[in-house]
Formats: sequence, C-alpha cells, structure tokens
Amino acid sequence: MRALMTKLEQATALDRAGDRLQRAVQATLRPQRVRDLLHGVFLGHPLHPAMVQVPVGAWISAAVVDLLPGQRRAATTLVALGTVSAVPAAVAGLNDWAELSRDQRRVGLVHAAANTVGLTLYAGSLAARLTGRHGVGRALAYLGLGAASAGAYLGGHLAYKQGAQVSQSVSELHRMSNGWQSVAELAGLPQRKLVTREVDDVSVILYRHGDEVTVMLERCPHQSGPLGEGEVQEIGGHACVVCPWHGSAFRLNGGEVVHGPSATDQQVLPTRIVDGTLQTRLP
Ligand code: FES
Repeated sequence: MRALMTKLEQATALDRAGDRLQRAVQATLRPQRVRDLLHGVFLGHPLHPAMVQVPVGAWISAAVVDLLPGQRRAATTLVALGTVSAVPAAVAGLNDWAELSRDQRRVGLVHAAANTVGLTLYAGSLAARLTGRHGVGRALAYLGLGAASAGAYLGGHLAYKQGAQVSQSVSELHRMSNGWQSVAELAGLPQRKLVTREVDDVSVILYRHGDEVTVMLERCPHQSGPLGEGEVQEIGGHACVVCPWHGSAFRLNGGEVVHGPSATDQQVLPTRIVDGTLQTRLP
C-alpha cells in the first residue's frame, strides 16, 4: 500500500486534469469571504474534516440499520441525510484542495474521485429506496460505503502523511529551548516593518508598533511560506502579515488568521523588554 501511495504522489499523469480542476474551482469559489468560510477561518480549524462527520456517520449508521428487519424508513432517512450533507462537505474539500501543493493535489484528486463515486452510488441508492426497490438500494449503499472508505483512506494519507491543511508552523516550537532568549535591541527595530530573526534556529518575525513588539513564527502554517517576505496590510482595522505564497493573512497583534487558505492561527510568542533588549520564550 505504501508503494502504491508513493506512486500516486508522483503520478504526473494526473496533473493535467488536476490543473484544469484547480482553475475551475478557483474561478468558481468566490469571493474571498466564501473561500474563508469554506476553509474554516472562522473556526480556526479546517472546516472540511468537521463537515464530513455528518455523511460518514449517516452512511455507516445506514449500513448497520440496513441489517435490521423493519428499518427501511430509518435507513432511507440516513442515506438521504448522508447524501445531502456530502455535497457541502465536498465543496469545502475542493476549496482546500485547490490551494495544496502538486503532490498533495494528485492524492487529493483521487480522494475526491473515490468520494464522488461513493456519493453517486448513494444517490442511486436513495433513488432506488424512494421507488420501493430496497434490495437494490441496500446493494448500492454498501458499494458506496466501499468507495467512501477508499476516499477516507486517501484523505487520511493526505492529512497525516502529506500534512495537508495541518499547521506547518507549530512543530517549530519543539525545536526551541525553554526560558527567555534575547532576539534584538529594541532601539534598533524599525517601526511597523517586518524584521526576521532566529531563535534556536527557528525563524521568527518581529513587528514593532510603538514600544510593543510582536514576535511570531515565520513559517506559514499553511504550506511553510516565508511570512518575513510577506507584506503588512491593514485588514479590518488590524495590521496583518500576508503570506507571499497563497495570501493567508494573520493579525500581527495575536496571530489570528483573517484570510485563508490557512485555517489555523499563527503562533505568537510571549515577549518582554529587559534593559532595552527584546526577549522571547516558548508560549
Ligand atoms: S504558504 Fe500558503 S498561504 Fe502561506
């Protein structure tokens, strides 16, 4: 299975279809606030994995209920719930997928294809049940569960092996030692400009506003883009750093994500000034 997944990650034959779909998704899912909603910016976590709980739960429950006598109505209701709720979950997933790296998009494409097959089979199952063909409906539902399970396996690979939509910056904290560490002389820091420094080989950005300084991890939580090379923009009355790679924006006064594709906040580190020296430490 591992060898198969490695081949899938490297399957350049998928790129043409993937690139076309990516352009179509990016052209369709607008404006920015719709994309942010679908990424899960308001939650501080990706929305897609939360949304898939409904169809997966309903479909698995239907598979159990289908084994019990006299439960046709309950099974039909569960299949209907799963089928309807899978559509917005798929839209949220496509929105995340369009901002992934190429190797992640290849696996994501097959993940989406498997789930589309599953959804189609469940839609057929629902149609069969509603027209009284419950035996056909059951068979299609079990086939659909097989396809959706293959899709879930690929989704797991995407998240846990390839790190899609997982914070890429938080692991940086594990490389920092405990205790306060000096990062810069306050007097040498320009006002309202990004400055990059290292703490235990971990890159951080400094942003001075008055006598306050924000220290934030530099690696973007989305795909590790260099926030130190990003722009500072005023968004919603707050100074934000905008990632130069895909445009995620984070408040410089707390790290809260305000625009995706990142759905997670950026880590800000505690600070203090001692004898004119800016110090920081692990949160
Ligand atoms: S790396 Fe994608 S938004 Fe920063």
